[in-house]
Amino acid sequence: MLLLTIHGQLMAMLLRLVNAKKTIEIGVFTGYSLLLTALTIPEDGQITAIDVNRETYEIGLPIIKKAGVDHKINFIESEALSVLDQLLKYSENEGSFDYAFVDADKDNYCNYHERLMKLLKVGGIAVYDNTLWGGTVAVPEEQVPDHFRGSSRQAILDLNRSLADDPRVQLSHVALGDGITICRRIF
Ligand SMILES: C[S@@+](CC[C@H](N)C(=O)[O-])C[C@H]1O[C@@H](n2cnc3c(N)ncnc32)[C@H](O)[C@@H]1O
Repeated sequence: MLLLTIHGQLMAMLLRLVNAKKTIEIGVFTGYSLLLTALTIPEDGQITAIDVNRETYEIGLPIIKKAGVDHKINFIESEALSVLDQLLKYSENEGSFDYAFVDADKDNYCNYHERLMKLLKVGGIAVYDNTLWGGTVAVPEEQVPDHFRGSSRQAILDLNRSLADDPRVQLSHVALGDGITICRRIF
């Protein structure tokens, strides 16, 4: 049995609520969220799991195999954006995914969102991690500690602003951990 963190419980709940079968994972690392997803989706579910680093995935892979869920995972070692663009070249992928978890390369969050709005089915969910960026998205600029400044924080601010105005999604910004934003595609 996988011991779930509070984030993990929420993710498992969301996966079940949308009956997720076909999912995308952007940012695998050693595979905590990947294993959680693989354990939650059905036997014939499929996860397209993308990370620029296969080595860290392989650290967690024995555990994934021991759990008997590796057959659900298509791991792709690559920059995520090019994989999403590649998926969109095939019309059968449009509107075909139930769920996406995005936890890598904050600078591209807005770019991922644009692709995911095409890849997810209406009613599908995209979950973005770290959207509070240590709480610094909600404090005046001059009070942001130096180590939180930079392009990643700016990218999270841009994402939060653009999602707030995005008519394609129903939004829930959850103050859990470093912030999780849940977007349900509504058209
Ligand atoms: C925060 S970790 C992911 C954690 C993972 N979701 C988990 O549950 O443990 C971020 C991962 O994103 C990967 N990454 C960074 N930039 C990337 C990119 N442009 N495309 C795909 N993966 C990337 C890193 O190699 C790293 O493994």
